[in-house]
Amino acid sequence: MTAKLIKGTEIREQILEEIAAEVAAIKDKFEVVPGLVTILVGQNPASLSYVTLKIQTAHRVGFKEVQDSQPVDISEENLLALIDKYNKDDSINGILVQLPLPGHIDEKKVLNAIDPDKDVDGFHPVNVGRLMIGGDELRFSPCTPAGIQEMIIRAGVETDGAEVVVVGRSNIVGKPIANMMLQKGKGANSTVTIVHTGTKNMEAHCKRADILIVAAGVPGLVKPEWIKPGACVIDVGVNRVGEKPSKNDPKKMVAVLKGDVDFEAAREIAGSITPVPGGVGPMTITMLMKNTLKSLKFKLGIQ
Ligand code: GUN
Repeated sequence: MTAKLIKGTEIREQILEEIAAEVAAIKDKFEVVPGLVTILVGQNPASLSYVTLKIQTAHRVGFKEVQDSQPVDISEENLLALIDKYNKDDSINGILVQLPLPGHIDEKKVLNAIDPDKDVDGFHPVNVGRLMIGGDELRFSPCTPAGIQEMIIRAGVETDGAEVVVVGRSNIVGKPIANMMLQKGKGANSTVTIVHTGTKNMEAHCKRADILIVAAGVPGLVKPEWIKPGACVIDVGVNRVGEKPSKNDPKKMVAVLKGDVDFEAAREIAGSITPVPGGVGPMTITMLMKNTLKSLKFKLGIQ
């Protein structure tokens, strides 16, 4: 059996169209659009390209978008003052500080300074708590886990009572997706196990999974024999394993990306699987847009 491919690139297009339509309807009725600010400190090329894509996507769906670039040597005090300014700005519903920050700035202090009701990354401890409680308390799920859950739902994978095994316990992916999948409700209500570097027999746990979510950052960690036949496999790994000439411009080198799962072998066993690239990756920015829209809807009392 060859697995069905769950393509983030296609799901992204559907969701962005839905968001754009909702933004247009809100604009008509309330004369307001969601506002997103991205704060970039320094000019790290990878961060700059992520932020540029976030701003382009925000523009595409009809948001007010602000890219605020700051010098690499901005003081922590001035960065905190900038966040305070956007916390108070009524036209801004989402504040994103692109990580990593330079070493002289306390990342935790900065993230904790963002108004939790504008924390569209979902990294603030208040939002982590809200996520854990779930139900009515939930405000913003972090973007990558939110994208994973959306893909599982849209691929029609049964989650109710399913055995979900999450590989990796990061604060950004592993812990939140595990919490989300065990909540009551749509796209969840699963029995969840998290495996990590301290786990004794990772393979035995993975083999039980109806849904296997891998976010370990180790290329090819999950072998085909770890996969239960017919399982849904979500590969969050984006590992740069080399370089190759670009298709569009052969003089330019681009990264060769590999997931945490041995994709070619796994697709012969799994029921459905996300490719790398083109799987989970495109969903993260999409869910940032969804969170920013959600933030405005909360403010308008229409969520
Ligand atoms: N740097 C890499 N990924 C992310 C992300 O999802 N959010 C923020 N704020 N910074 C990042």
